Amino acid sequence: MKAVRVHELGGPEALRYEEIPDPSPKSGEVLVKIEAAGVNFLDIYYRSGFHWGGHHRRTLPYIPGAEASGTAVEVGPEVEDIKVGDRVAYGISNGYGSYAELYAAPSWHLFKLTNSVDFQIAAAVMLQGMTAHYLTHTTYPLKPNDTALIHAAAGGTGLLLVQISKLLGARVIGTVSTEEKTQLARAAGADMTINYAKQDFAAEVRTLTDGKGVNVV
Ligand SMILES: NC(=O)c1ccc[n+]([C@@H]2O[C@H](COP(=O)([O-])OP(=O)(O)OC[C@H]3O[C@@H](n4cnc5c(N)ncnc54)[C@H](OP(=O)(O)O)[C@@H]3O)[C@@H](O)[C@H]2O)c1
Repeated sequence: MKAVRVHELGGPEALRYEEIPDPSPKSGEVLVKIEAAGVNFLDIYYRSGFHWGGHHRRTLPYIPGAEASGTAVEVGPEVEDIKVGDRVAYGISNGYGSYAELYAAPSWHLFKLTNSVDFQIAAAVMLQGMTAHYLTHTTYPLKPNDTALIHAAAGGTGLLLVQISKLLGARVIGTVSTEEKTQLARAAGADMTINYAKQDFAAEVRTLTDGKGVNVV
């Protein structure tokens, strides 16, 4: 199969597109023919070595990419919940392997997709979407009329956080670094934005909340 691999940690030039043997699924694994792979900030941490995460058992060379969607093309022993032909997606923050044509995924990492969910949307939303979901539903269950301060509100995770927070009825203050990002955060539903390149965001938040501050950052 074709895959992008990293042989030595470094900048984008460390990514090499090459031909390598196809993986085969071990017990409990499903071979996924990847249709779309997500590209994440996390991939940069791993590729550059900023946060290598030795406990993740990655060794060089490795294939980056922690999320993807595709079709199950082979099922290993002891897999009961996924069949060949199922449309699936996965995202796992300690993961790797999705910048490739095939990936042998543990079956418990896989979500089944209905036909109405596009492969590209499914791949793009796994890591950032699950992060935005747990932050707003588990870490701090947002309530109507709470005020949330969302940093990097125009980033991938930030835009999802803004939308989910608004669906939950919260008031959203987003921080951004440019005018273009102000427009993105506003279009996603942010009630107020602070351009932290021009303004002291802490002082601005106090002004916007009449000195009360926010319920969650
Ligand atoms: N724990 C988890 O499960 C999990 C999951 C997903 C993401 N994350 C983390 O959440 C953060 C955002 O991830 P993301 O996927 O939303 O990333 P993204 O889409 O690339 O957005 C990153 C945002 O960060 C801001 N930023 C500040 N300094 C930056 C820099 N030096 N280079 C690039 N962007 C910079 C930018 O907004 P401004 O220019 O407006 O500041 C940018 O919009 C990352 O630290 C990522 O590792 C964690």
